[in-house]
Amino acid sequence: MSTKYILGNWKMNLSTAEGSELAAKIAAYKAPQNTQVVIFPPFTLLPAVSAHTIKVGAQDVSPEQNGAFTGDISAAQLKDAGCSYVLVGHSERRSLHGETDSLIKRKAIAVQNAGLIPVICVGESEQQRESGTYLDTIQSQVKQSIPVGGSYIIAYEPVWAIGSGKTPTLVQIAEVHKTIASALSYATSGAHIAIVYGGSVKAANAREILSTEGVDGVLVGGASLKAEEFCAIIAAAQG
Ligand code: PGA
Repeated sequence: MSTKYILGNWKMNLSTAEGSELAAKIAAYKAPQNTQVVIFPPFTLLPAVSAHTIKVGAQDVSPEQNGAFTGDISAAQLKDAGCSYVLVGHSERRSLHGETDSLIKRKAIAVQNAGLIPVICVGESEQQRESGTYLDTIQSQVKQSIPVGGSYIIAYEPVWAIGSGKTPTLVQIAEVHKTIASALSYATSGAHIAIVYGGSVKAANAREILSTEGVDGVLVGGASLKAEEFCAIIAAAQG
């Protein structure tokens, strides 16, 4: 049985005390076998969350190794802070910070070079979905933002599904995951560990999404901030 990844992206939320309380509840919850839970808290909460023996990841990283890059954090520093994973190219970074596929690829390589696993996000806009160009967009993002070689996880997150309460149908999710898997087979010689889905995942839809063909896990935003809801999503990994 392959591993299911349940990834919680806390975005820019919670104080240290709140994050620590939530992490304690998640750590106390017994995940089903073959389930890997990873929390992506804000940078400042990384030590407090990892103290609860939960795997942690960062939400962003610098492509540079060290030096005069005020405000940035390197992959080696994230490793030092206890991270095992790093989100790269989340759609909020792409849209609010102008991140391009080539920058995202550089960041992903920096993460791999530090011995961590990048979780590289791709996904179409609502307009691309409606005009029927979504598979082209995703194939191009995969080809241009995924490093050649090394290990990584891909997160398929349709931009229109993030925080909106809207999700693609299971058939639509399966179609994109299949397209990503085949794009990867010629785009890179690296090893993708998993292809996860993200965008309005909650306890009520997690089980069916997690049982969809080609879905190796979920990346959860809003619903990862509530212990009960997130633990129900972890439980849904059992199928
Ligand atoms: P959401 O966010 O679950 O709140 O839609 C997902 C994400 O942005 O990773």
